[in-house]
Amino acid sequence: MTIGIRKAEPQDAEAIADVHQQAWRGAYSGIIPHRALNGMINRRGTQWWANAIRRAATVLVVEIGGSVAGYATIGRNRARELSQQGEIYELYLRPEYQGIGLGSRLFAAARQRLAESGLAGLVVWALEENVGALSFYEGAGGRDIAEGVEIFDHKAVKKVAFVWD
Ligand SMILES: CC(C)(COP(=O)(O)OP(=O)(O)OC[C@H]1O[C@@H](n2cnc3c(N)ncnc32)[C@H](O)[C@@H]1OP(=O)(O)O)[C@@H](O)C(=O)NCCC(=O)NCCS
Repeated sequence: MTIGIRKAEPQDAEAIADVHQQAWRGAYSGIIPHRALNGMINRRGTQWWANAIRRAATVLVVEIGGSVAGYATIGRNRARELSQQGEIYELYLRPEYQGIGLGSRLFAAARQRLAESGLAGLVVWALEENVGALSFYEGAGGRDIAEGVEIFDHKAVKKVAFVWD
């Protein structure tokens, strides 16, 4: 099967919305309270993604055999206290395509695009309870450098920043 990584087009919006829903439910059920998680998923339907793709946000997709298996969103680092210039805001795969190397390929492509656009260094935030993501970023050579907290429906959830120089 052919595997490819490319910039998303507006017509990918429906497939990305579906990946987003499946991956977020799989990764965050039991970590983010149900109501908050549903709210976040419902806000990001096809129309939301079509707008995100058309606006400045850079959305990448990984395709396998012609269907979208995952996406990443990348851009400038938002955390002033960290000196790295680039950030992967999100990197998610459909549950059935996890664990076969696609995440590593998408991560490498995202990192390369950020470097090509002149951003030196890279940050990724992951929820501390998302142990799969933590092992993934550790395995990819990230240094775990900072911590933060996100509040979802009154629940405080810790997050960890990984950096690459
Ligand atoms: C995290 C994620 C992007 C990783 O992509 P992937 O394609 O599944 O990972 P790969 O197959 O490329 O694996 C690369 C390495 O990461 C590690 N890894 C990946 N997922 C893991 C998991 N769930 N638990 C433990 N280790 C994991 C593996 O040990 C693997 O190392 P190996 O090559 O030595 O076996 C993907 O599983 C995913 O979308 N998960 C759900 C959503 C999520 O948590 N996204 C990140 C939010 S910050």
